[in-house]
Amino acid sequence: MVQQMDLDGQVAIVTGAGSGIGLGAAAAFRARGATVLAADLDPTAAAELDGVVGIEADVRSDADMAGVADAAADLGPVGVVMANAGVAAGGRVENVPIEEWQRLLDINVLGVVRTIQPHLPAMRARGAGHLIVTGSSAGLFTDPTGGNAAYATTKAALLGFARNLATQVDGDGLAVHYLAPRLTDTPFPVSAVAWGRSGARAMSDRSVDGADTVEQVIDALLVGMVQGRFLISLTDDTEDQLAAFARSGQP
Ligand SMILES: NC(=O)c1ccc[n+]([C@@H]2O[C@H](COP(=O)([O-])OP(=O)(O)OC[C@H]3O[C@@H](n4cnc5c(N)ncnc54)[C@H](O)[C@@H]3O)[C@@H](O)[C@H]2O)c1
Repeated sequence: MVQQMDLDGQVAIVTGAGSGIGLGAAAAFRARGATVLAADLDPTAAAELDGVVGIEADVRSDADMAGVADAAADLGPVGVVMANAGVAAGGRVENVPIEEWQRLLDINVLGVVRTIQPHLPAMRARGAGHLIVTGSSAGLFTDPTGGNAAYATTKAALLGFARNLATQVDGDGLAVHYLAPRLTDTPFPVSAVAWGRSGARAMSDRSVDGADTVEQVIDALLVGMVQGRFLISLTDDTEDQLAAFARSGQP
């Protein structure tokens, strides 16, 4: 277990905290002293943790996310914002209706912007804190099956968002992290899992018959936060593979 981070006296906001990776992060931040504000369509599971405040919120709603910001302000200074809520969808480019593209973009991309935006002025003024964007290996590497185009597009958009955010807050004492899990054992929909298997195989020689556990993802996240890393992945060779991809001139 990673011990070094002390979040005592700080608020950690996690969206999508009702399940999976977000729930694991909420517990980990609480264990390191934070008061955790767990936002989800259904925050019940997170709210059962001691020291975690659950708030029902939809990241598609400006009003809900303003409500999350207000609730956080009542709890104390915000030290961590983890924009983690996300949904999956399978389908090739031509098969995904525009309405579905819009839904995915609204949740996975604009939901992250709505989550982080309200907290930037105060966090910059304090000059400390972590801004975490839960992306995906799907945002870094091409899906060899071509079968998860809309989801992968949103996660690639988040990489662009996080890089620009990191540039904007450079020198302000804030750390931006792009978390890129591979296939992880959560209730995430089967369409993403099906892609995750092939995608993860393309990324690594490691067998993915056993998906990563939430604990492995959270351990990687905590180490990355302590080390101040921008890209947090679960493979040692991700940077090498990205460099090879850039050199290849191929999609
Ligand atoms: N599980 C994987 O294999 C995997 C791999 C890479 C990336 N990810 C990413 O990790 C993040 C968390 O996924 P997970 O695996 O923990 O899935 P999960 O399904 O266990 O948890 C997602 C949570 O987000 C919540 N949520 C969905 N839409 C929401 C909305 N509009 N507003 C608020 N909350 C909403 C759900 O209620 C759920 O509690 C997602 O962004 C996902 O894309 C997951």
